[in-house]
Amino acid sequence: MIRETVTLSTASDFSGWRAWARKLLHDKVSAESIQWIVEAPPSLYAPSATRSLPTAPSTTSLPRALAALFPAVFVSEDPDRLHLLYLTLQTLRDGLPLPDELTERLRRLAAESRARALDLRCQMPDASHPEWQIIRTSHAASLIDSQADALSNLRPTPWIVMAPERTLCWDGRNYHFGPGFTGHDLPPSKLIDTARGLATAGSGNAWWDGIAPVRLHPIPEDIATSRSLTSLRAKAIDCQMCDLCKPATRTVSGEGNPKAGILFIGEQPGDQEDLQGRPFVGPAGQLFDRALREAGGNRTEAWITNAVKHFKFTPKGNRRIHQKPDASDITACSPWLVTERRILAPKVTVMLGVTAASAVLGRSVTVSRERSRPIPLKDGSIGLVTVHPSYLLRLPDEESKAREYTKFVNDLRMAISTLAG
Ligand code: URA
Repeated sequence: MIRETVTLSTASDFSGWRAWARKLLHDKVSAESIQWIVEAPPSLYAPSATRSLPTAPSTTSLPRALAALFPAVFVSEDPDRLHLLYLTLQTLRDGLPLPDELTERLRRLAAESRARALDLRCQMPDASHPEWQIIRTSHAASLIDSQADALSNLRPTPWIVMAPERTLCWDGRNYHFGPGFTGHDLPPSKLIDTARGLATAGSGNAWWDGIAPVRLHPIPEDIATSRSLTSLRAKAIDCQMCDLCKPATRTVSGEGNPKAGILFIGEQPGDQEDLQGRPFVGPAGQLFDRALREAGGNRTEAWITNAVKHFKFTPKGNRRIHQKPDASDITACSPWLVTERRILAPKVTVMLGVTAASAVLGRSVTVSRERSRPIPLKDGSIGLVTVHPSYLLRLPDEESKAREYTKFVNDLRMAISTLAG
């Protein structure tokens, strides 16, 4: 018999659901007597819309592994999902073992949501083209909402996701959530402005505070089975395999032309790369670009990545001071680089500096001893070690800077001619 009907305003309102669940558990209302309804009020997109949630002390503690499933089950397409989540909490509150069937079902629903999240992320272009991007999709609004953070990390420059149930706009600083819009009948010139207007009308809407991000929690096995660079990047944005993810803004994955046959590997993203979400865009990257052009190449005709995908730094005032990654950072990050290289299968791998060289060669390396000559790699391709461009930036006098820069350009030229040969 239904004793309580709870109405959530959106299928994304995880914190609203949680507040109600806590109250109902406290009041000992059984799962069978609750009816969960999702019904949008007419004012849903009004900027002033607010909600009042019940408060009650917590009665249940949720094991961490199970808690990680909750946001993903919450946005699943199963009509019983809210009931199943409540039933799980009720069982734990009563100190009973969770039936295997229930845990299995939660796992399956979470896996389905994560697969949908991955699919949506794979539609997001990287930040190498700064102009507005439109992503048309048919994913459900709650799934799209749950990916807002992941999508803006994947692409910090502006984009709009358009779906039948949701317009989600990221203008580079803020999210704007609006109602569905497909824009099929609009000319491309009007599309961005119309979708932005629609999404912006919903901004500041307090309902959206309730969204819980659905994360992928990549582990080495998932990474190794990735089949495309797009899915590798979409998974890497959630990487928490070492502590570098905590202070860093985002994972910075590789970019460029995956068919180029030539791969340049740096050390780790720096301050600018961490903010812009792109490798080699700061001072060392600009020097690298210039040297590569002088050597007859171009970054758009290469794949550029790093051995370590998070920025390692120590804060000093309002600056972030680069810290060299150590062996444990390189090892923790190696599943990403190994898989990236497997998918790219480059003919030539250029290791920029000691971190990249030891990550690829799997041993300690002295750059001055090993630079400027082809090194056969285990997969039959060719490796080349050279200095890291930041080494050139650190040289104290103009004369040694000029001399080392010429040697660096020569190394890059050798890499390009090895590719051509
Ligand atoms: N240094 C690196 O090694 N990589 C970058 O992406 C930027 C600076």
